[in-house]
Amino acid sequence: MLGNFSYSNPTKLYFGENALEHLGAELTHYGKNVLLVYGGGSIKKNGIYDQVVSILKSCDKEIIEDPGVMPNPTAEKLYQGCQRAREGKVDLILAVGGGSVCDYAKAVSVSTYCEEDPWDKYYLRMEDVDNKIIPVGCVLTMVGTGSEMNGGSVITNHEQKLKIGHVFGDNVFPKFSILNPTYTFTLPRYQMIAGFFDIMSHILEQYFSGEDDNTSDYIMEGLLKSLIHSTKIAVENPTDYEARSNIMWIATWALNTLVAKGKSTDWMVHMIGQSVGAYTDATHGMTLSAISIPYYRFIMPYGLQKFKRYAVNVWDVSPDGKTDEQIAGEGLTRMERYMREIGLVMNIKELGVTEEMLDGIARGSFIMDGGYKVLSNDDILTILKDSMGE
Ligand code: NZQ
Ligand code: ZN
Repeated sequence: MLGNFSYSNPTKLYFGENALEHLGAELTHYGKNVLLVYGGGSIKKNGIYDQVVSILKSCDKEIIEDPGVMPNPTAEKLYQGCQRAREGKVDLILAVGGGSVCDYAKAVSVSTYCEEDPWDKYYLRMEDVDNKIIPVGCVLTMVGTGSEMNGGSVITNHEQKLKIGHVFGDNVFPKFSILNPTYTFTLPRYQMIAGFFDIMSHILEQYFSGEDDNTSDYIMEGLLKSLIHSTKIAVENPTDYEARSNIMWIATWALNTLVAKGKSTDWMVHMIGQSVGAYTDATHGMTLSAISIPYYRFIMPYGLQKFKRYAVNVWDVSPDGKTDEQIAGEGLTRMERYMREIGLVMNIKELGVTEEMLDGIARGSFIMDGGYKVLSNDDILTILKDSMGE
């Protein structure tokens, strides 16, 4: 049964090959000083930087640059960004990049005028925002996180060995996001497929929870089928616009908060994956792929009917003459085969995890209670050991 909920999503999306044409009109809603946030330089190589700067200049904006946002943005970087935003009296933060750049922009947005240490207040203590928020706009260049249309912001603190995501309210969602699928064509293959699995994981972690009849589950089965279909095409031909544009749109749907409304959700793969990330700084999507199959095999007995439904509706497993366990297990086998085929990392050793790290990774995994089993520390250790591979 659907639970009670309220829903609004204030992010205005511009989608398609000409989406950047709308940036100029959007900029008229904000003051003169724009903090231009970007990563390690991919946007300079592929020309997106020049296009954005030329629009900012034609709109007479003062550009304050904040480059060098690393994948898995850090608390140290956040403190620097806040200082720059404060000194520049920034009216708008324009994030041009992937999830890391968008997440970081949101973190700077809520932290610049925070009177306490923002890491403590917003990430360790997960408090609500009660200070001035600087509006954020995004030009997305990497597909996966859904950060373009949600309030999520994940920050890593290497000193404390913690990677924590705060899901902020809709006052922190980007005011607008520009989604041009051709911008993703220059992504290195490793990042591209990591993003594909990030999308899959977002959908699965909302799907594998609850035993009720819920519209969202039907929507998610459709999203998964479209994702599997399009990613197979994109792996063969990364510049296939039809496939890449569908994937971009699925990524937004997967985590723009809509499908989670009125239903319970799991999120343990993300919690363990984030802890792996805190120890290794590995690519987000690969931390998820490396633990997913061991995780799902571990919890399958506790949510058997949903795993059976997943096998039949998403992976086209024929149920004839098989037990529920066989059907559900075959679904996971097909999922694993697909994951290997598209080239995902399937064990955490390959991401730099050592035996000595396992206890700390388990302790650093936040335990959520919405899935089919509330995991104990020992359960997490079992899953992690299984994820180390042979
Ligand atoms: O830094 P540059 O030079 O731009 O290179 C980036 C980076 O090295 C590169 N890249 C991005 N667009 C490119 C490109 N290279 C060539 N051409 C392009 N068009 O790709 C690399 C990875 O970028 P990053 O932004 O780190 O990837 P992603 O979008 O996967 O973001 C990962 C971060 O998002 C968080 C993750 O934890 C991680 O910190 N997440 C945010 C969520 C949210 N806001 O709701 C949810 C997710 O579950 C996730 O946790
Ligand atoms: Zn994710």
